[in-house]
Amino acid sequence: MDLIIRNAHLPDGRKDLDIGVVGAHIVAVEPRLAATAPTEIDATGQLLSPAFVDAHFHLDATLTLGLPRRNQSGTLLEGIALWGELKPTLTSDAIIERALRYCDLAVARGLLAIRSHVDICDDRLLAVQALLTVKKRVAPYLDLQLVAFPQDGFYRSPTAEQNLLRALDLGVEVVGGIPHFERSMAAGAASVRRLCEIAADRGLLVDMHCDETDDPLSRHIETLAAETKRLHLEGRVTGSHLTSMHSMDNYYVSKLLPLIADSGVAAIANPLINITLQGRHDSYPKRRGMTRVPELLAAGVNVAFGHDCVMDPWYAFGSADMLEVAHMAVHVAQMTSESAIGQCYQAITSNAAQILHLPDYGLAPGCRADMVILQAADCFEAIRLKANRRWVIKGGRVIAESPPQLSLLHLPGRAAMLDFSAIQPPSA
Ligand code: FE2
Repeated sequence: MDLIIRNAHLPDGRKDLDIGVVGAHIVAVEPRLAATAPTEIDATGQLLSPAFVDAHFHLDATLTLGLPRRNQSGTLLEGIALWGELKPTLTSDAIIERALRYCDLAVARGLLAIRSHVDICDDRLLAVQALLTVKKRVAPYLDLQLVAFPQDGFYRSPTAEQNLLRALDLGVEVVGGIPHFERSMAAGAASVRRLCEIAADRGLLVDMHCDETDDPLSRHIETLAAETKRLHLEGRVTGSHLTSMHSMDNYYVSKLLPLIADSGVAAIANPLINITLQGRHDSYPKRRGMTRVPELLAAGVNVAFGHDCVMDPWYAFGSADMLEVAHMAVHVAQMTSESAIGQCYQAITSNAAQILHLPDYGLAPGCRADMVILQAADCFEAIRLKANRRWVIKGGRVIAESPPQLSLLHLPGRAAMLDFSAIQPPSA
């Protein structure tokens, strides 16, 4: 063996297992491995997880907070306008430098696969070229998948179709869209049809920003599911955001959910963004805006969570922490039962990996050894604490590590060291 991790807990609840790695792959998951390895890590009963996967991000806009100014209204539309002001001033070097800096943060957080949308509504395709360079640079330690995203509207922006096709020719691998931003419902539906046809012709995946609005009549997800069936794209299409579903009529949703499930369209919610951008036109009560995650899951739809934005025109917060994303999802969707918390963990790991079509993902023998050991006993504690990432492993090699997170107390008569992860609920 090249690497052995001993005494690990796994996300499925199995405990005290050793994981053996040869080269870049897991070869054994057993109670006590007799073999030895030059690198051995004692996980001491902490959680060993497959690496986190961010199913929805914008790497071309990240870390631009304040350029050229902050979003005052906090709305999606001011964010898009602000990005429009920033776009002409972007340079390739600046995009690459910020994206690489974000990937460093991601690695430190055990986030080793990101699907990033890249704005193609710029005739120079500056961001596309820059992120293709970044994709190559980070390939040894991070899987970056790019989506051709017509931010200003596929039909609304006169050169978007031509630019999108050019981006795909350059190697961008997923077809994006933004039907709710077109000028009419009809134009939005037409864009969904055309974009799905492009994906079908080229054998590509689809991931559209879809119905990112509080308008309950924004129903492009229905067209997306129907086109997926018409073009036999089942399992290759994703609707991102789907926030209008939050506000839809319940009868209509009861008809829509089976259609989405039947079409094999996956859903991505972005809890941090949805809870801050949506409901901005409400007084009180204010809608939460996030799509109907538990209901989608119950209908058999694959649901993942994305970070979407970090320190950009739409969102000033964030730190590449997918546990923070899951933590927000638990709260916004009220997914507080033990099984629902487990589902939220899957939404930032295995469900997201399935949407990205990541090969050999997981902790079984034969899977790629892309893993993170957390300072937490289980998934619940990992989300509760947004736990420290002790070791991050890519292809069988430790690529990041953090010292144990402890607080030194100066209190007479009390233990000096406080470890939050050592506070376990009493066992029955
Ligand atoms: Fe997005």
